[in-house]
Amino acid sequence: MVSVPVVLDCDPGHDDAFAIWLAAGDPNIDLLGITTVGGNGHLEHTTHNARVVCTVGGIHGVPIAAGADSPLVRRLTVADDIHGASALDGPVLPEPEVDLDPRGAIELLRELITGSPEPVTVLATGPLTNIALLVRTHPDVLRNVREVVWMGGSTGRGNVTPYAEFNSWVDPEALSVVLGAQVPFTMVGLNITHQALVTAEVLDRIAAIGNRTSEFAAQLLKFFCASYNTAEGMPAAPLHDPVAVAMVAVPEVVASVRARLDVELRGTETAGATSVDLHDKLGREQNATVAITLDVARFWDMVENAIRAMR
Ligand code: BDR
Ligand code: CA
Repeated sequence: MVSVPVVLDCDPGHDDAFAIWLAAGDPNIDLLGITTVGGNGHLEHTTHNARVVCTVGGIHGVPIAAGADSPLVRRLTVADDIHGASALDGPVLPEPEVDLDPRGAIELLRELITGSPEPVTVLATGPLTNIALLVRTHPDVLRNVREVVWMGGSTGRGNVTPYAEFNSWVDPEALSVVLGAQVPFTMVGLNITHQALVTAEVLDRIAAIGNRTSEFAAQLLKFFCASYNTAEGMPAAPLHDPVAVAMVAVPEVVASVRARLDVELRGTETAGATSVDLHDKLGREQNATVAITLDVARFWDMVENAIRAMR
């Protein structure tokens, strides 16, 4: 298989770290660049963390650029209850050995997408602010976007409010802009990422790989599982973001359906909730692919192999 050219927009974040390692380490993905957004932490933290994660993994030569520090119209609320004050609490964070690209996220995305001989997949594992800004500022780039694959939303209930998932809730207007752009769109929501649970067996397996990245990764997972246990009573935390990466690398690792996807912008109790019309009750045009079922064993094999490929 020829590798898929990908740009990864993220807000590291524990699970974003695994998304970066999987995107860099899977042979089916050609990681062109990484952009950061305010989400799990403030932009200075998520950007620093992206550089830390690449440093730990020995990922060099992939440009990293900082994007939006706040959502399109709302104030940023970070997820420090899950990710800690640094957004990557747990291990001691080394000084980054990879530089920040001075172009900024939107310009970097524009150049990488328009410069690619093959259409590029935009993978997003945070609020969609940067992607909405790209769509608004440079709509022409969409001609060379194969699809947007986003970890966010849910076919059911939420995780930050009863109805809204975090990435959707932080910037629902950005999701609305991207959905309105008529670009092929895939949602990898909580309904599937809650199948990727970091059990004790998974943690042991990652720790047993025995390289620097696995040691760092195991410390991240311990912190992440402890946070989820406190916040949601889930000692085996769902490792959301790499599920979206796995689906791009190996589409059959996920079973999906086509459906109508909309986002609630004005609800008094439901802002940021995704409306996924799985049974076509509304009779509207289907505008999204929605990931439903994960091949869990294959997913963890992919994560393990990618971490093994790091240093
Ligand atoms: C999503 O929100 C963030 O906390 C995670 O990194 C993931 O992208 C899960 O709701
Ligand atoms: Ca994320």
